[in-house]
Amino acid sequence: MYVCNCNGIREREAHAAISAGARRPADVFRHCQSTAKCAKCVCDLRRMIQDAEVALRHAAE
Ligand code: FES
Repeated sequence: MYVCNCNGIREREAHAAISAGARRPADVFRHCQSTAKCAKCVCDLRRMIQDAEVALRHAAE
C-alpha cells in the first residue's frame, strides 16, 4: 500500500525510514530519495512516526 502516491513510497518503505531514525516526514522523503510534492501524505507520515515513538516508549518501559 502506498503512503505517498506522488513519490510511490510504500508503507513498508516509510516504516524502514522510521526504523532507520526518521523523526519527521522530511526525513522519510530524504531516506526515500524524494521530496514532498502535494504533501497530502505528511499527516499520515507524522502519524506513523508518532505511532513508532509510542511503541518505542512502551518497549522501553
Ligand atoms: S502524496 Fe506524498 S507528496 Fe503527494
